[in-house]
Parts: sequence; C-alpha cells; structure tokens
Amino acid sequence: MFFPLRVITVVVAFATAALAAPRANPDRCNENTAPFQIRLAYAGDSGMAFSKNGILNRFARSDISTTYPTSSTYNNHVVITGLQSDTTYYYMPECGNQTYTFKTARRAGSSTEFSFAMVGDMGTFGPYGLSTTVGKGASNPLKPGEKTTIESLMTLKDSYDFVWHVGDIAYADAWLKEKGGYISPVNQTDGGAEYDKILNEFYDQVEEISSIRPYMVGPGNHEANCDNGSDLDICLPGQLNFTGYRAHWKFVLNAYLCPACPLLSPAEWRTSGIPGTTVRCTSSNSTPKTDFPNAPDEPGGEGDEDAGPFAPSGSQLAWLKKDLASVDRKKTPWVIASGHRPWYVSTTECLECQAAFEPLLLQYGVDLVLHGHKHFYESHAAIDNGTAQEIDADPTAPWYIVNGAAGHYDGLDTPSLPYVPTSRKVITLYGWSLFTVHNCTHLSTQFIASGNNSILDTATLIKDRNCYC
Ligand SMILES: [Fe+2]
Repeated sequence: MFFPLRVITVVVAFATAALAAPRANPDRCNENTAPFQIRLAYAGDSGMAFSKNGILNRFARSDISTTYPTSSTYNNHVVITGLQSDTTYYYMPECGNQTYTFKTARRAGSSTEFSFAMVGDMGTFGPYGLSTTVGKGASNPLKPGEKTTIESLMTLKDSYDFVWHVGDIAYADAWLKEKGGYISPVNQTDGGAEYDKILNEFYDQVEEISSIRPYMVGPGNHEANCDNGSDLDICLPGQLNFTGYRAHWKFVLNAYLCPACPLLSPAEWRTSGIPGTTVRCTSSNSTPKTDFPNAPDEPGGEGDEDAGPFAPSGSQLAWLKKDLASVDRKKTPWVIASGHRPWYVSTTECLECQAAFEPLLLQYGVDLVLHGHKHFYESHAAIDNGTAQEIDADPTAPWYIVNGAAGHYDGLDTPSLPYVPTSRKVITLYGWSLFTVHNCTHLSTQFIASGNNSILDTATLIKDRNCYC
C-alpha cells in the first residue's frame, strides 16, 4: 500500500509488487509544483535522503527547504528512516507523476557482492557544457553519436548500486566561457541567470540517474564560486563559498557527527559504512579552504578560491582520524577514501593534500583512494610515501586511482611525460570507473569509455586476509 510521508510518498514493496495509482493533493499540486532534479543519497542502511527542487515561491513540504541568492529554485530535502536494509522500494514525490525505485544499503557484515560507479569532474552536456563542438582554447569535443558519461551511466545502470562523484559537479562556472565567446554571448549583468541555468541543466540531466541510484558526492574546486577563483569580484553572493553545492546536497553533507563541518563529508555516508556490506566509504575535502595546513584553495594558494572556513582548524583531520579508527575491520574489511585533488598523478600534484591526508590513510590501512580533478584516467600501484607496491600481492598501502575524465566542458587534460613511476595505466578518453567488491579479499575495477561503453582497463586489488562474514 501507499502511504504519504512528508514530501515523499513511499511504498514498501519489492520490485515485482503491483503498484497502486499515485496519490496527489489537488489543492497543492499543479503544473508549477511538479518536482524535478530528484536526488537520492544513502542515509545509513535503513534510510534514504531525498532531495528535489521546485520553482521558487511554490509549495514545497520537506524537512529542509532552502534557496540562495541567484538561484531560481528551492532545494527541498527529507530523510526517510525505518526502512529495511537491502530492499527495493517504490516512491513517488508528492505532486509528481512518475514512480521511481531505489534500493537501500546492505547492513555492515553482509558478504554480498556489489558494485558502484565512480565519476569525477562531470559537468553539463550539450550547448551549455561538453558537446560535439568546442570553443576557443578547448579540445576533445564529443564525436558525433558518442555517448556522454550520463548516457553511458544510464545504459549500464543495472551494473552498479550507487554513484560516487568525487567533485567538480556541473561546471556552472563555465558561464564565463560564454563571456569569451566559448558558448554564446554572456550577459554579465544578468544577476547570475547564466550560472544558474547551467547548474539547473546539470541537475536536470543527471536526474535520470540520481532519482534511481543514491548519488554520493564530495566537493571539487569548481563548486567554490562563479569563476574558478580567478576574479571573485564578479561573483554574486549566491555564487561564492560553495553556496549552490551546499544547498543542493544538504543531506549528503549535513554533518550529524560534526555539526561544525558541513563541507567535510557526507555524514550518513561515512557513519553508516554504506553500502553497509564489506566496505566503508569516506570522503575528505581536499579542495576548499577548510582546516588542513596549507590547503591549496586558501587565498594565494593554487586555486585561490577564497572559500571557507567551514570548521575550526584541525576539524577535518580530527574527523577523518576518528572515522577511520571507528571501522570494525572484521565486519567491514574494505575502507575506501575519496578526495578531489590527487597527489599521485602524472601532472601537477597536490602535495599539501598528501602531507595532510596520506599519513592517516596509511595509519588506518585504507585500501583504495579515489581522486579526480585531473581530466584523464590514471590507475596507479598501491603506494606508501611514493614507494609502489603490487596491488595483487596483499599491499599494505592504499591503491590510488585518479579519474576526472567524466566530462569537463573544454576537454581532457594531457598528462605529463614520463608518467610517474607508480603509474600503471593512463587513458585520455571520457569515461568512468566501475568498482566491484567481490568478497573481503578481491576488489576490482574497470574503466568504462563513455563513448561506447567499452572496457579499457581492468585491475584487481587482492588482500590476504580472513573473511569473517
Ligand atoms: Fe577540479
């Protein structure tokens, strides 16, 4: 049966169950109250966070409804709890006309094989982003008929449980490229409309995935402001300091354990050990000015985003240490960490990030580290302070993978030659990574070329340990 629950109508049913007709309140629902940009996020193994957007000044019910200057929409958020783990549910947003499904996370200790998709640096596709034509100074347009990464993810949606986007989401700051004749003439006095349009375009496009698969995110430097840090004076209040990012991903970011650290990490995601099985995922913030020493986006740093502060000094590393230390490795043998800026990569690396995070990742035996930011794919060895270890021989250090090739509006980056000694595979095509956790000892990856879904790299991390589950 259906029952209404705040902004979302949810029915508890397995996928084969018959569905009743959706119910809507005619007093509140009209053509202007239809939800859009639906986004799911894990909320432990017995809950799910829902976010959707609505037109400003229209009715919306939710736990949190928020907007910001320059935004044309409200971001509405609600968390549904008390669900069964590892269960498929149907849901329909109130005033919607479509039924969706999602599956809750498994409980910690479950030994079932599962997969997740990892993307980095993925923006809008089409006229306001990456397309078959590129503007001045850009390269690597999509080929005619080539799938975008969103299309590739959709065609292979049955192959993964959730998506992990490691930062640089939407590239709304591409609006300035329009000013330079990249896309179309820009109106710099439009009150942020161009920026907002690109942002909405991305969330519209990704909705087909984010409405059916939990879409977990971490911040990238392009979320920071309207101009990627080069001329912050032109940014309006709603275009600074990760404002749009924080509004859109409120529940992913809402820090239940660290209320003072709203940008540090997806809270439910890190506290639940999602997807609850043999893996613990944690996401640090290697991009904005937060609280680790010499963070690159402090004023005068590499990115100079002038963002933050988001927490008292030292909060992020203290949180990460506590989070990693809390994992019961008998129940949750795999620990995967993500950040945005890489430090093992065949181009400019983030040494400040390495100094801050690598000691903790080594100390707590993190198995895999995912990074983006550089717009190509580079799989490395397992690495301990620059020294490579074989990934299939029970490494003691984390395995590092950089994949920021999902779709930046002006193309791919060119890695530097020679590749760093730890590099094992470089691919300069648009694509994403599919990870599969087979059991407590084997974790494999495939690089999927978005254009045609071909698999261009495979690798398996092998640990020598006892499985308790
Ligand atoms: Fe980036």
